[in-house]
Amino acid sequence: MSLLEGSVGVGDMVLLEPLNEESLLKNLDKRFQHKEIYTYIGNVVVSVNPYQQLPIYGPEFIDKYKEYNFYELKPHIYALANEAYQSLKDHDRDQCILITGESGSGKTEASKLVMSYVAAVCEKGEQVNSVKEQLLQSNPVLEAFGNAKTIRNDNSSRFGKYMDIEFDFKGSPLGGVITNYLLEKSRVVKHVKGERNFHIFYQLLEGADAQLLKALKLEKNVSCYSYLNFEASRVDGMDDAANFRAVQNAMNIIGFSSEEIQKILEVIAIVLKLGNVEVGDEFQANGVPGSSIQNEKVLKEISDLMGLQVEGLERALCSRTMETKQEKVVTTLNKIQACYARDALAKNIYSRLFSWIVNRINENIKVSDSTKKKVMGVLDIYGFEILENNSFEQFVINYCNEKLQQVFIEMTLKEEQEEYLKEGIPWVKIDYFDNGIICNLIEHHQQGILAMLDEECLRPGVVSDSTFLAKLNQVFCKHNYYESRVTQNAQRQHDPSMGLSCFRIRHYAGKVMYNVDGFLDKNNDLLFRDLSQALWASKHSLLRSLFPEGDPKQASLKRPPTAGTQFKNSIATLMKNLYSKNPNYIRCIKPNEHQQRGLFSSELVNTQARYLGLLENVRVRRAGYAYRQVYGVFLERYRMLGQSTWPHWRGPAREGVEKLLGELSLSSEELAFGRTKIFIRSPKTLFYLEEKRRIRIHQLVTLVQKMYRGWRCRTNYQLMRKSQILISSWFRGNMQKKRYGKIKASTLLIQAFVRGWKTRKEYRKYFRSGAALHLSNFIYRRMAQRFLLGLKDNLPTKITDNRWPPPPYKSFTLANQELKIIYHQWKCKKYRDQLSPQKREVLKDKLCASELFKGKKASYPESVPVPFRGDYVMLHGKPKLQQLQKAGDGPVLMADTVNKINRADGKMVPRILLLTKSHVILADAKGSKVKSVIGLESVDEVSVSSLQNGLFGLHLSEISSVGSKGDFLLVSEHAIELLTKLYQATLDKMKRPLPITVTEEFTVKFKEGDLTVKVIQSQMNKGSNKLSCKKKGHNQLEVFAQ
Ligand SMILES: Nc1ncnc2c1ncn2[C@@H]1O[C@H](COP(=O)(O)OP(=O)(O)OP(=O)(O)O)[C@@H](O)[C@H]1O
Ligand SMILES: [Mg+2]
Repeated sequence: MSLLEGSVGVGDMVLLEPLNEESLLKNLDKRFQHKEIYTYIGNVVVSVNPYQQLPIYGPEFIDKYKEYNFYELKPHIYALANEAYQSLKDHDRDQCILITGESGSGKTEASKLVMSYVAAVCEKGEQVNSVKEQLLQSNPVLEAFGNAKTIRNDNSSRFGKYMDIEFDFKGSPLGGVITNYLLEKSRVVKHVKGERNFHIFYQLLEGADAQLLKALKLEKNVSCYSYLNFEASRVDGMDDAANFRAVQNAMNIIGFSSEEIQKILEVIAIVLKLGNVEVGDEFQANGVPGSSIQNEKVLKEISDLMGLQVEGLERALCSRTMETKQEKVVTTLNKIQACYARDALAKNIYSRLFSWIVNRINENIKVSDSTKKKVMGVLDIYGFEILENNSFEQFVINYCNEKLQQVFIEMTLKEEQEEYLKEGIPWVKIDYFDNGIICNLIEHHQQGILAMLDEECLRPGVVSDSTFLAKLNQVFCKHNYYESRVTQNAQRQHDPSMGLSCFRIRHYAGKVMYNVDGFLDKNNDLLFRDLSQALWASKHSLLRSLFPEGDPKQASLKRPPTAGTQFKNSIATLMKNLYSKNPNYIRCIKPNEHQQRGLFSSELVNTQARYLGLLENVRVRRAGYAYRQVYGVFLERYRMLGQSTWPHWRGPAREGVEKLLGELSLSSEELAFGRTKIFIRSPKTLFYLEEKRRIRIHQLVTLVQKMYRGWRCRTNYQLMRKSQILISSWFRGNMQKKRYGKIKASTLLIQAFVRGWKTRKEYRKYFRSGAALHLSNFIYRRMAQRFLLGLKDNLPTKITDNRWPPPPYKSFTLANQELKIIYHQWKCKKYRDQLSPQKREVLKDKLCASELFKGKKASYPESVPVPFRGDYVMLHGKPKLQQLQKAGDGPVLMADTVNKINRADGKMVPRILLLTKSHVILADAKGSKVKSVIGLESVDEVSVSSLQNGLFGLHLSEISSVGSKGDFLLVSEHAIELLTKLYQATLDKMKRPLPITVTEEFTVKFKEGDLTVKVIQSQMNKGSNKLSCKKKGHNQLEVFAQ
C-alpha cells in the first residue's frame, strides 16, 4: 500500500496542505483517532503514544516492512528501523536511532520495537540467536532496576540508556555495549506521593518465595519498609511477581550466575533494610549531640547480610572521621547527619549496583575489539521533565534533552539549510529556534551553570545552595533564558510563582523552575569515607567490589569529579558518538497527561510539537531535497545503471552523474546539481534508482557468480587433474618399487639357493652323506684299476688275433670295446712303424686291392694271403721280354701271362702282359712281338666278373689309336693284382681313379661291333681257373666259369 492510498489524513506531513500549526495538529489528531499513531516528516517518524496495544507489531508486519522501502507502506517505526538496518548493511554506515520525547511519550517502547525488529530481520543461527536473546533480555533487567512508576509514567526510565548494537559485515548481531546515564538515585530514599521506588524492590517482595525472603531476612509486606511507598505499591496492569520471574530468567539468559543473582538480591535487601534503620538522638558526655541506632535487630540483620560487625557498621553510620595530612579527628554525627549518611549509603549502594549490573551485562555481550563491526546505536534517554518541584536531577535531565534537541537542530534544520547554501542550491531560509544559547547557559566551561555549581562546591569558605543561586543571579542577570526572583525584581517584574530559592530556565521545551535546595549536595555526591571503608571491609564480595575507594591503600584525598561534571562529560561523549553516525529520528509525543487511550489533548500535543520544532522540520523538508550525496559516492553507487558510466567512468564525477541521470531520463525538477553533491527531491525517485540498482545488481551478481563458478570449476578440475597425475605417478612408482622389491627378493632367494647349492656341493665331501659317493667313487676306481690291470695281462699278442677279454662288469662294456679298438690301432701302428719301405709298398697295394675288391669279387679272399709278386714271367732271366718293356715308359710294374679272348670265336690266345707306369703292353706268348701298346690314358674303364675267374674287359677310349681297334677281353690268374696295379698306375699318371665295375654282364666294343659278355657260373671247370667261351649269335659271348 502506498503512502497516500487509503491513508487517514496525510502520512507524510511534507505533503500537508495548507501547512500550519493547526493543520499539523489536526492531522496528528485525525490519524491518532484512527489508531494511526505514526506519521512521517520526511524520514523522521512522529509517534503518538496510543496507551493501548495495537495490532500492528506482529511478525507479519515485520515481514512486510522488511520487503518494502520506507515510503512504500504506511508510516511505521518498523519502516525506520528497516531503513536504518538496510543502510547499515548496504551502505556500511553506522546508524543511530534517536528517540526523544517527554516522559511517558513512548521512547522506551519505541526502542524495544526497534530492537525487536532488527532482531527479527537479521540472520538466524544458533550463535546469532543467543546474542539477540542476550541483547533483548537486557531490557527487562535494566527496566526492573532502573525504571519506576512516576505520576507521568507507570514505567518511567529513571536513567538514560544508550545501546550500541554491533553487527558483522553480513548484518548479524555480534553483541553490544550499553552506556547508562545518571540514575535518579534519590528515588531510592524518597519519592513523591503517588510514585514508587524502583520496580525491583516490589518485584522482590512480591515474587520471592518464603525461603528466599527468609534468606534475605525480608518480610513480604511492602508496608514494613519505609523506603517503599505503601499506598502506591501496586501499579495497574503490572504483575510484579511475574516480572520478578522474568527478570531472573533474563539474568540467567544474559549469563549471570545464580550466585551473582543471589548476591544482587542480597544487596537489594540491604538497601531496603537500611531504610528501616532508625537513628535516635544521643547526647555525648561533652554535651555535643550525637546519634545512635535505635533498632539493633535491623542493624544486626544488615550487618549479617553485609558480613560486617554490628559495631563497625553503627560506628560508620553515626560518626565521621576527618582526615587531614597531619591528624585524624573522629566526630560523632547528630541525628540528621546520621540519617543523611544512612540515605547516602543506600543511594550509593543502589546506584553503584545498577552500574555494576550494566557493566556485567556489557561483559557478556561485548565483542572483541579486533572484529570489524558496524554499529547501530539506540538512544532512549529520560524525557524532558517539568515537575512541581524540580531539583538537580531534573536540571541535568533537561540539559540532556537540550543537547539532544541541538543534535536534531544541527543535523536536520541547520545543517541542511546550510548545505543548500553551501552547494549553491537556490534556497529561501526557514527560521527555527536554535537552542545553542541554552546549552551554552548550562554547559559553558566557565560561565555555565554547571561550571559555577562545581566552583561553588569546591570553593573554601561558607558555601550553600543560596550562595550558588546568588552567583547565578549575578552572572546571568541579563541572560534572556535565565530568570529568578532577583532578575525579575531588577526588571520590575512581579511573579508570585517564582520561589525565593528558585531559578527558571526557558528551555526549548518550556520554562522550568528549579529549586536550588540540595544542588550542592547532589553535585558533590559525597559518601563519608567511613562508610565506604566499612563497606570495603565487608565480607560480601559484590558489596565490597562496589566500594573500591574504601580500600585504605587506594585512599586518596583528591576529590572525585562532581556529578554535574561527570554527567556533562558523558553527554559530551554521547554527542560525539551521535554526530559520527547517521541519525534516524523518532519524535515521541504524549497525547494526554492521564495515560489514557484515545484521548488527544491538542494543547499538550501542540506544546510538544512546537518545542520539538515539527513545523520547521516539515518546512525545511518540504523545500528541500529528500536525498543528497557527494558526486563520487553517488556515481559509485549507481554507475552500473548507465551505459557510459559502466563499467568505468574516467571523467570527473559530476559529469558522470549528469550523464548517468541524463541517460535515465529523470525529470529535471527532481534533481539539483550542487557544487559537490547531487540532490534528489523526492524519495520516489530515489526508490526508483534503488529498484533499478537492485535489478541491475542481480544481473551483475549472476555474471560474477557465473565467472566465479567457471573459475572455481576450472581450478578445481586442474587441481584434481594435478592430483590425479601425482597420485598415479606415486602409484606407478610404488608399483614398480614393489615389483623391483619382489624381483630383488626373488633374485636374492635364487642366489642364496644357488650359492647354498654350490656350497653344499663343494662341501658335500665333508659331509657324511657325501661319504657314500666318495666310497663308491673309490670302489669304482679300484674296480677300473683291477679291470685295466687284468686286461694288461690278457692282451692278444698278434695283430690278427681278434680275441679280447670280456669286461668283468657290464658298465665297462663300452670302455672295453673302446680299449680294444685303441689297442688294436696302437698295435697296427706299431706294426706299421716297423715295416720296410718295400713291405709298405706291398701292403699299400694290398690295401688298394682290398678297397677295390673286398666283398665284391669271389677270388679276393684267396688273394689276400698271397703276396703280390709282380713278375710272373721271370722277366729278369729273359732278355727278350725285357726288350718289350721298351714299348712303354719306366720299370715294369707287373708282368704276367694272360689269355686274350677273340671276339670272333671266343677262343683264348695266350699273351704276355707288361704293365709299366704309363702303358699296358701286350705281346705274343713267346714275347718276341709286341702286339698292342695301350697308353694308360686310353683306358677308360675296366669291367670284371665277380666270380672266381680272372676275366676282365679293358674298355678303351675310342679316340685313341689303339682304342680304335676295340676293347680287350682278357683273362688273368692274377686279375686282382693286375687290376690293382693298373688302378694305381692310372691314378699316379692320370691323377684320376680308374673306374672298375664288378659285373657279370658287360659290353665290349670292337671294330666289328659291340659284344655283350655274359659270365655264367658253371661247375664244369671246378678246381681250375679255366673258362670256356661260347659265342652266341653275333653280338653275345657267353663265358662259363667258376
Ligand atoms: N507503541 C505503543 N503501544 C502501546 N503502548 C505504548 C506504546 N508506546 C508507549 N506505550 C505505553 O506508554 C507507556 C510509557 O511509555 P514509555 O515507558 O516508553 O515512555 P518513555 O518515553 O520511555 O517515558 P520515560 O521518559 O518516563 O521513560 C508504556 O508503559 C506503555 O504502556
Ligand atoms: Mg523510558
